[in-house]
Amino acid sequence: MVFKITEPEYILMKKYIEEHCGIHLEKDKEYLIESRLSDLLAETGCKSFQEFHFKARTERSGELRDRIVDAMTTNETSWFRDKNTWEYLKDIAVPVLLNRASSSLSIGARTSVWSAAASTGQEIYSLMMLLDEASKERGLPLLLDKIEVLATDISVSALNAAVAARYDSIAMSRGLPDEKKEKYFTKQGNSWQFDPGLKNRVQFKKFNLQDTFLFNCDFDLILCRYVSIYFSDTFKRELFMKMAKVLKPGGILILGATESLREFSNDFEISYYKNSVINTKKLNLKR
Ligand SMILES: C[S@@+](CC[C@H](N)C(=O)[O-])C[C@H]1O[C@@H](n2cnc3c(N)ncnc32)[C@H](O)[C@@H]1O
Repeated sequence: MVFKITEPEYILMKKYIEEHCGIHLEKDKEYLIESRLSDLLAETGCKSFQEFHFKARTERSGELRDRIVDAMTTNETSWFRDKNTWEYLKDIAVPVLLNRASSSLSIGARTSVWSAAASTGQEIYSLMMLLDEASKERGLPLLLDKIEVLATDISVSALNAAVAARYDSIAMSRGLPDEKKEKYFTKQGNSWQFDPGLKNRVQFKKFNLQDTFLFNCDFDLILCRYVSIYFSDTFKRELFMKMAKVLKPGGILILGATESLREFSNDFEISYYKNSVINTKKLNLKR
């Protein structure tokens, strides 16, 4: 059953959603709330969005909040999404990461990567496959031990799927080359399990991009793809400022192909590699 939302209820729910995950709903998106939250509303026994909003605001556990956020986020993703971006990552970023990992053997600095809206894991596992292949080509597979890989998302269900790393045939058919499927996946029943050795190199955590960025190291590379499209201009400015602060000087921020820093940050040099946009943190930027 679909519950109708009234205008005052829409204002309340829109505010609640933006407060808890940054997703900024424009006017005329009532249908999104109705279609994504009606089942949950029914499950809670509420009779209207006003009652549902009150329940969400007054609960103590945060369980309902997490389920609302889960329902409102769009977890669309695929393997090697945006061919041009992955050419840049393979040709330039991965070799640089391995060079840094190799020099960190002597100087002890950490090489770190963050997938900041990891969804169900395809993005970070695509990168892990490239890192694995490139380190083996160098004859130095243990270089991967020197690279810290963090993957975060606000959606609990997306993160659970990422940690499980089991994909059905539809997910597998979206962008994954056959040779990588054969090399890195094992068929189990109707699904495919991603290589556990590589999976275990990724640390998954629930993290809201609205929160303060407190990490124990600065990153060489951040993938923050297809998430800022859902945020307000104000939040985009704040987000890219926080991203710049946790990148090393010269560190790279990669956005989705339809996203841009242009109006929102002066902290990055923008360049291009085969039509993909590369955002490099300015070297002279103060932290
Ligand atoms: C469209 S997916 C993009 C996945 C992947 N980065 C890609 O490009 O294929 C957007 C992801 O951002 C997450 N997300 C939305 N709001 C967020 C927030 N405030 N903090 C962290 N993650 C968020 C969603 O849960 C969703 O998994």
